[in-house]
Amino acid sequence: MEFLKSRRSIRKFKDQPPSLEKVLKALDIARFAPSAKNAQPWRFIVITDPEVKSKLSRIHPAAKPLERAPLAVVVACNIDESPVSYMLDCSAATVYFLLAAHALGLGTVWIQTMRNIENIREILGMPASAVPIAILAVGYPDESPEPPPRKPLESIVYLNKYGEPAIKLHDAR
Ligand SMILES: Cc1cc2nc3c(=O)[nH]c(=O)nc-3n(C[C@H](O)[C@H](O)[C@H](O)COP(=O)(O)O)c2cc1C
Repeated sequence: MEFLKSRRSIRKFKDQPPSLEKVLKALDIARFAPSAKNAQPWRFIVITDPEVKSKLSRIHPAAKPLERAPLAVVVACNIDESPVSYMLDCSAATVYFLLAAHALGLGTVWIQTMRNIENIREILGMPASAVPIAILAVGYPDESPEPPPRKPLESIVYLNKYGEPAIKLHDAR
């Protein structure tokens, strides 16, 4: 439980790049994420070329951590393989990757892609059947940020009906 809670978004990285073997280890775990009908519509593009990484770091202001990361992984999702659930499937695989990377001592941050799909497709030569769901900056952490605050459990858990704060979690514990 503590391990799951201790994953943080990392935006500053050491210069030393992680080995490709290590990244592949985390990607190997991402394959075990659940997906609708076990469609596994995900594809992963490992970005080691500084020029490509630099282009990706400029897709929007919050993509800047990519500039400082030694490596990136783009999660691309094949719409045809999972037309209804592709986004859900690939988000699940992304989270598996983030946690596996954390287990291997790597830091990551999820970079938003959804407003820049065409631009990313162009940079990476992706077909229209593939949607870039996430870009992940990857490297050895060079910071240890405090956990951003979370909404209290009591305010996000309902009982039997949406919005029903019937559960007195303090009492239930
Ligand atoms: C869909 C999604 C998009 C995100 N986009 C960005 C982004 O573009 N740039 C960034 O620095 N962080 C991004 N993040 C990271 C969040 O800011 C971060 O997960 C959140 O603040 C909670 O912090 P934590 O991951 O350390 O728990 C994104 C996270 C998600 C899930």
